[in-house]
Amino acid sequence: MADSGETHAKTNTIILAIETSCDDTSVAIIRDGEVASVIVSSQAEHEEWGGVVPELASRAHLNVISPILTRTIEKAGITFGDVNAIAVTNEPGLIGSLLVGLNVAKGLAVALGKPLITVNHIEAHLLSVMLEQKIDFPYLALVVSGGHTMLYDVQGAGNYTLLGATRDDAAGEAFDKGGKLLGLGYPGGPLVDRYGAKGDPTYHKFPRSLLDDSSDDFSFSGLKTSLRYFLRDRYPNGISREEDLADICASYQEAIVDSLLVKTFRAAKGLGYSRIAIVGGVSANSRLREKFQEKASKEGMTIFLTSPIYSTDNAAMIGLVGWLRYKDRKFNELTVTAKGALSEAKAVRRGKGGVRPSDLRK
Ligand code: KG4
Ligand code: ZN
Repeated sequence: MADSGETHAKTNTIILAIETSCDDTSVAIIRDGEVASVIVSSQAEHEEWGGVVPELASRAHLNVISPILTRTIEKAGITFGDVNAIAVTNEPGLIGSLLVGLNVAKGLAVALGKPLITVNHIEAHLLSVMLEQKIDFPYLALVVSGGHTMLYDVQGAGNYTLLGATRDDAAGEAFDKGGKLLGLGYPGGPLVDRYGAKGDPTYHKFPRSLLDDSSDDFSFSGLKTSLRYFLRDRYPNGISREEDLADICASYQEAIVDSLLVKTFRAAKGLGYSRIAIVGGVSANSRLREKFQEKASKEGMTIFLTSPIYSTDNAAMIGLVGWLRYKDRKFNELTVTAKGALSEAKAVRRGKGGVRPSDLRK
């Protein structure tokens, strides 16, 4: 974590963190809140299927977790004996994938005689901006990944209110499904970004859903359908010109970014906040970064982003939460279980003003 300005004595607390909630296997060593080493291994097994296959994901985690553990320890220049606690993601995610990381973490906790700290993956994303810079509470956080699109009021570590979420597809899913319709590879997000950078975002006006809705929710399934009909009607024989592909990517991307932009700034203004953190894989999108920065400087607000390695799933953010919990001596029993999918739609219907990660565990 960046220097918080506080004067705290170095305690040399070492957290070993594990993240296996989806299709990235990651291990990190966090020393006094700072990243000593982190390794992320992304699974290529899913490319040919055009999406994450849960069974393949858990098998791939099993194959790589042990060598990654060893390499991460070596990279940090420590031994297993130096570790003070084991932090691990136990929710939400693919249950088979979560179980691999959780069981390895439990085994390590027993073998090393050290405490176990289970971490909510969403909470780790919310605080991931603190890994590289100082950010004061409160702030608004936009979580945008392949599985999540949520707006959180982050009042402090452990104190979060879910304001809104997607009612159907996540923003990353919209990018990936759009990429698939356009015949691009998987995941489509980075490819739509790359082609879109050369295109005209005003080429076609795709729908921006729920902009007139007073909630902080998002919706992207209509956009994907609209792209399907657009391609059927305008390109019945497929897209042959690269310029057209670039223009369609740019226009489709613009619709996703605009929906995120309008809703996020409206929520920040509603709360009276001037700090906005954007976390998760989609925050790597270059058009999103450009438009959010542009609007923020006009409105006198500040955007907080992370380096690409901390935007996508990684164990460093899990270790950061683990370190915060270690300082409060908040540990978990070895009987703790993994919890799978979180239905954002269900969570958000609990109403404005009140869902915290602790609620989501119920
Ligand atoms: O956070 P993440 O690595 O994994 C989870 O889903 O939890 O996010 C992956 C998502 C994918 O949908 C991918 O297409 C999207 O992030 N993504 C992007 C870009 N880079 C990754 N979407 C748009 N533009 C990008 N540059
Ligand atoms: Zn994630």
